[in-house]
Amino acid sequence: MSTLTVVDHPLVQHKLTLMRRTDTPTAEFRRLLREIALLLGYEVTRDLATELIDIVTPVGPARVPTLSGKKLCIVSVLRAGNGILEGMLDLIPSARVGHIGLYRDPTTLEAIEYYFKVPEDISERDVIVVDPMLATGNSAVAAVHRIKAREAKSIKYVCLVAAPEGVAAFQADHPDVPIFTAALDQKLNDHGYIVPGLGDAGDRLFGTK
Ligand code: URA
Repeated sequence: MSTLTVVDHPLVQHKLTLMRRTDTPTAEFRRLLREIALLLGYEVTRDLATELIDIVTPVGPARVPTLSGKKLCIVSVLRAGNGILEGMLDLIPSARVGHIGLYRDPTTLEAIEYYFKVPEDISERDVIVVDPMLATGNSAVAAVHRIKAREAKSIKYVCLVAAPEGVAAFQADHPDVPIFTAALDQKLNDHGYIVPGLGDAGDRLFGTK
């Protein structure tokens, strides 16, 4: 069974098209990523468990569903992951947050860790790892290994755009971790960028280039 889910909702696809355009300004790019993240969050949390509780509405008593105490943690892969994190927190404001700092060595494209901070009780939590671009897969694979080492209850991976190469690398190392993405693009170029992609997500999100 494939662990890849492409969220092909028309709103997600339309907003992603706007993000891909070279002439989309930073503020607009950031807002769109936040909106798409919320919509991806809706899909990735679809299987959260609920239980029935008794409440009173203005019209009378009712037995109605509520989330059954699932403890969530969103782990953002710095720095572009923070763009998805914002939208996820709009949807799940009480989630705890972790950060993993990874950068790509420009020559080898290997993931080098420079920061790691997650909630102490992460072993009691279901974790959603977020990073917009699943390119070579090196960062995603490394990030999920770090979370697995802390024995999280479950892990899901959410990105915006995935390359087939990245998906294959990720699934080879983590066949047990579902991937949610808004698009599966054509390929990687020689510099490890996704084609057609949207360029450098971090630079576009923070206006650093
Ligand atoms: N990281 C990005 O920001 N963009 C890509 O296309 C690949 C990796």
